[in-house]
Amino acid sequence: MNIVLGITGGIAAYKAPDLVRRLKERGADVQIVMTASAEEFVTDTALQAVSGRAVRSNLWDKEAERAMSHIELARWADVVLIAPATAEVMARIVSGGAPDLLTTICLATEAPLALAPAMNHVMWNNPATQANRAVLEQRGVHILGPGVGSQACGEEGAGRMLETDAIAAAVFDLGISHGEGLLKGKKVVITAGPTRESIDPVRYISNRSSGKMGYAMARAAVAQDAEVILISGPVDLPAPPGVEVREVTTAEQMYGATHAVIEDADIFIAAAAVADYRPVAPAEQKIKKKREAMTIELVRCPDILASVAALDGGPFTVGFAAETERLEEYARAKLVNKKLDMIIANRVGADRGFDRDDNAATVFWAAGERQFPEARKSELANELVELVAERYYALRGTGTQPRLSIISNKNRRT
Ligand code: C5P
Repeated sequence: MNIVLGITGGIAAYKAPDLVRRLKERGADVQIVMTASAEEFVTDTALQAVSGRAVRSNLWDKEAERAMSHIELARWADVVLIAPATAEVMARIVSGGAPDLLTTICLATEAPLALAPAMNHVMWNNPATQANRAVLEQRGVHILGPGVGSQACGEEGAGRMLETDAIAAAVFDLGISHGEGLLKGKKVVITAGPTRESIDPVRYISNRSSGKMGYAMARAAVAQDAEVILISGPVDLPAPPGVEVREVTTAEQMYGATHAVIEDADIFIAAAAVADYRPVAPAEQKIKKKREAMTIELVRCPDILASVAALDGGPFTVGFAAETERLEEYARAKLVNKKLDMIIANRVGADRGFDRDDNAATVFWAAGERQFPEARKSELANELVELVAERYYALRGTGTQPRLSIISNKNRRT
């Protein structure tokens, strides 16, 4: 993995040489880009020695730019990691400013961006910094930490840079592609998010799905070099880089959009929370509250997953089962009734599953099952997609599996 490691001016910059070593231990090629204030905390001599590459810092260094321009550097990166990331660099990235080499690369790269913030706890908790963090996360930037504990200023609180080994592990857990993924050459269609079924022009029936799991699955499939089409209900999430997103609102639209692209798909993952029923005849005008009670007649929505699983020569199909009770029994029943290749089951309830960043899952297929403990949805998705690929090749692709080059740290194989 090619990593551009940006170092900005916080005291935690003294840990940067160790971070470079941890990244290199995992097989990364690290190109360091320092800001002027980082040079106050750590020397480029030390960083050059551990990274084995000349440290870059000046956007106007003609000789370095001739060897590899800032645009080439931005393209070279599989990931841009900034550690430590100051409040200042977070604000710069949010505003799109590019006064130096590092922020220019952030603007010019299509690679994922990961930041390990490090600052005094009051600075971290400042509403301006928190607003910037929220915007960055909304745009798909990975925020690693910060940790809580004693700070260089002598105070206690949230704002410590994560330990270098934890940062390195987290970067390798982002599921970033380096071109030889498990699903290279495969077309994967994924549904995500809720659907909305109109009652009248201003009201609809929907559910609590945030789309986070489906979007994380899409990101993980791209990281394994799949061509991914994401058919998304209304959600508040940015389009994952490298994914073709088709936006829909209703179950019928999701059904149509799925069947429009499914013919040559290799894998179908139904992560959407599709409405089971929709109003038979949505009112043309807003319904007025004239009666004490009212009844809305509902009709079944098409089952997208079952319809794909029933296709002759259709793709490897993966369903989700969100259950509040009797998880295995209900999930296995869906596996059989919908004729699926695999089902990913998870518990949902007041404090579980929907609209959260963490999730746990148990996966069932005809002759087996595997448990996945609670983890961030992004990490869980990486592991689930690896299992999908494994089962897909076991069932469909004997002899055509590419060389395994999984970069997830936990499941690293060669
Ligand atoms: O039957 P149930 O809705 O519990 O099944 C859940 C699985 O079926 C999920 O994978 C969901 O995306 C899919 N599904 C679908 N179309 C529907 C209902 C569910 O694709 N109309």
